[in-house]
Amino acid sequence: MYRCLLACLILIICSHGYYGKQTVCPDNCLCDGRTYDCSDNDLSVIPSGISIAAKSLDLQKNQITELSNHPFSKLRLLRILNLGFNSLSQINYNDFNGLVNLRTLDISFNRINTIHKNSFRNLNKISDIVLRGNELTNIDGIFTDMNGLVRLDLSNNQIDTISSESFRNMTNLRYLMLGSNRITSIEVKAFNDNSLITFISLTGNPVIDVDGLFIKNNVLSFIELTNCSLETFPKGLPPMTRFLYLDQNNIRSITKKEIEPVESLVNLFISENEIQFIERDAFTGLKSLQELWINFNGITEVPIPPINAKKLHIDNNNIAHVKKDDFQFGSKLETLSIKNNQISVINAETFENLTNLMSLYLGGNNINVLPDNAFKPLLLLKDLGLTGMDFNYLGKDVFNKLNNLEKLTLSYVLIGENALQGNIFKHLSNLRILNLQESPELASKVLESEDMMKSLFTVEAINLMDNNLKTVNSNIMKYLPRLHTIKFERNQFHCDRRLLWLWKWIDMQKYKFENADSLQCFSPPQLRGNTFLSLKSDQFVPTTLKPVVLSTKGQFISKTTQSPHVILNSTNLGNETLTFKKLNDTVNENTDSSSFPPGYVPNQKDLVRSQNQQDKDYEEKINKILIITVVTTLAVVLFAVIVTTVSCLKCNQKKDSYNRTDTFPDNDVTFYVISDEAPPLPPPNTTRKDRGSVSSTRDITNDNVFIIDNDSS
Ligand SMILES: *[C@@H]1O[C@H](CO)[C@@H](O)[C@H](O)[C@H]1NC(C)=O
Ligand SMILES: *[C@@H]1O[C@H](CO)[C@@H](O)[C@H](O)[C@H]1NC(C)=O
Ligand SMILES: *[C@@H]1O[C@H](CO)[C@@H](O)[C@H](O)[C@H]1NC(C)=O
Ligand SMILES: *[C@@H]1O[C@H](CO)[C@@H](O)[C@H](O)[C@H]1NC(C)=O
Ligand SMILES: *[C@@H]1O[C@H](CO)[C@@H](O)[C@H](O)[C@H]1NC(C)=O
Ligand SMILES: *[C@@H]1O[C@H](CO)[C@@H](O)[C@H](O)[C@H]1NC(C)=O
Repeated sequence: MYRCLLACLILIICSHGYYGKQTVCPDNCLCDGRTYDCSDNDLSVIPSGISIAAKSLDLQKNQITELSNHPFSKLRLLRILNLGFNSLSQINYNDFNGLVNLRTLDISFNRINTIHKNSFRNLNKISDIVLRGNELTNIDGIFTDMNGLVRLDLSNNQIDTISSESFRNMTNLRYLMLGSNRITSIEVKAFNDNSLITFISLTGNPVIDVDGLFIKNNVLSFIELTNCSLETFPKGLPPMTRFLYLDQNNIRSITKKEIEPVESLVNLFISENEIQFIERDAFTGLKSLQELWINFNGITEVPIPPINAKKLHIDNNNIAHVKKDDFQFGSKLETLSIKNNQISVINAETFENLTNLMSLYLGGNNINVLPDNAFKPLLLLKDLGLTGMDFNYLGKDVFNKLNNLEKLTLSYVLIGENALQGNIFKHLSNLRILNLQESPELASKVLESEDMMKSLFTVEAINLMDNNLKTVNSNIMKYLPRLHTIKFERNQFHCDRRLLWLWKWIDMQKYKFENADSLQCFSPPQLRGNTFLSLKSDQFVPTTLKPVVLSTKGQFISKTTQSPHVILNSTNLGNETLTFKKLNDTVNENTDSSSFPPGYVPNQKDLVRSQNQQDKDYEEKINKILIITVVTTLAVVLFAVIVTTVSCLKCNQKKDSYNRTDTFPDNDVTFYVISDEAPPLPPPNTTRKDRGSVSSTRDITNDNVFIIDNDSS
């Protein structure tokens, strides 16, 4: 007992003295205990003065070109060494001498083309070597017999051949990254000694065939073969394979026999191949399969969904018919994407057994008719995508039973003259996101229908981009009291005083959105191209345009005869009991109250302050615009975001000198949606498919329901 204590004491004293030598921290380094951070410093040699007690040494992002004179020979306790992002071109025999305790060596992103065969030989404890992003062509012999190595990252090099020498006697290797090399040839026994390997990536190598390569790798569960040159489904995959990435290859067909042996598959990606044929029951034996991605191929039939699958992506194929029993085993499916096919008929029967479906993407098909109750069995549906459709009949009860629907995408939709049978939104009592981008006729009808607007009172975000709108009435905010995001970009706004509410509103909220800057006037000619925020309130021209009112129920008063005022009882906002009251026909063009958001009557002080602020902001804005023009030009083309009411109201409450009233400034009964020009045509050289689809495979579905996104259907 005493002896033990004594030994401990001696050990403590000794080690204390030992570590006590660590006194100085080299220039340019940050030292924290035994951790030395000398990264990002233009160092060309390893700094001296690193304590022999050092445990971690970070030298990345310097200019080190060579490791001469065994720079690490004293660092026997070092565990982590990072030499990434330097300019090393070779690793010599003795470079890492002394690093007998090193666990992790990172030499990524140098220019290493040569590594001496025995360079890593004395790294007795090494488990992780990162050589990503170098210029290695031949790796034979370098790693042989390193039976302690667990992870080896050789991606982004120029390796062309893997031989049976390459990874011989590496019995502990678990993770092997070989992506983005030039590997065309892999010897059949190359991985035979790697019996513990669980992850292998060969992504981005022009390898044609991997048959039988992994036959001895019994615990291999994650195989990445994306963007290789495979022409058939790989044979001899280990039965434990759970995640298999075969996307971006040249596979033409898949049979049940080929796929059956991989019985543990959880996720299977075969997107972007050239598959024309899949045996209908090919996947039925895969009891663990949760996600199946066969999109961007040429299949013409819906394969039977694996019995437990949650996600089935068969979009962007050539499927023309969905048969009644296609989804009979789909009761576990939560996501189904069949957009961008050639389907022309769907009805409630089609989806009868998909009772757990939460996301359905149907856009870009040839469906012209959506009857009443089309989605009736989908009681749990949250997200419905109907992008790029050309409807000539939309039943008024088409969305019946979808009272869990939160997101509805109706972008790039054309509707025939009498397609809309009524208030299609009336069943959607939980809708939060509505996307009507580039659907001008539909958008007009919705905005002009009091009924529909009332049904949308739960909506929090609405996309109205590309809809040829000339103006939008401020009472959109009243109908949609929860609205916090509007996308308004690329309309044809006529900058008269009716839009002052928007101008003011953007101005007050501008710091919350990046793209408010890009909202422009389309007319009158003298204001064309000016951004809203570059204008002063008195530059908005008097209201002269007589809006076209397309009333669906005849309950709106034509603007050509009257401009009634409205009182909307704010305590009843969003309530079916909205009350309207006609007050006065005259519109006072000169009162500045219309430059403030609905419901506010500013006093004189506010008007002056607002103007000064406006000028100041304008200067700032111009400066900012100059700086960011280049950056935003691209971005601007993509998005315009304008946020609204909820935050607007809050913001206004702070400006307590405004008096709240429930009176709108002017012209508020009707939504002015003036579409006296033809609706925009699809961009030339694009098909419906192009407009509604995304090219990348895996991020096709944006599951974030809080964001308006155009691609989710
Ligand atoms: C594997 O490597 C270890 C240590 O490097 C060595 O002792 C052993 O002989 C090697 N085995 C074979 C079969 O080469
Ligand atoms: C696919 O791999 C090739 C190299 O084989 C590479 O040049 C190309 O960029 C990769 N494509 C994608 C989409 O990653
Ligand atoms: C729904 O599932 C049941 C039971 O599996 C089956 O009998 C029925 O035919 C299925 N319905 C459809 C339309 O596939
Ligand atoms: C607004 O609604 C409240 C509550 O329903 C009611 O007490 C009030 O009289 C209404 N005001 C007007 C102007 O209609
Ligand atoms: C509308 O508001 C009134 C008064 O606030 C309330 O009594 C009524 O239940 C509301 N109706 C609905 C449908 O929310
Ligand atoms: C309508 O407005 C005019 C001008 O603002 C005013 O003189 C008139 O009294 C108003 N009429 C009513 C009924 O409020």
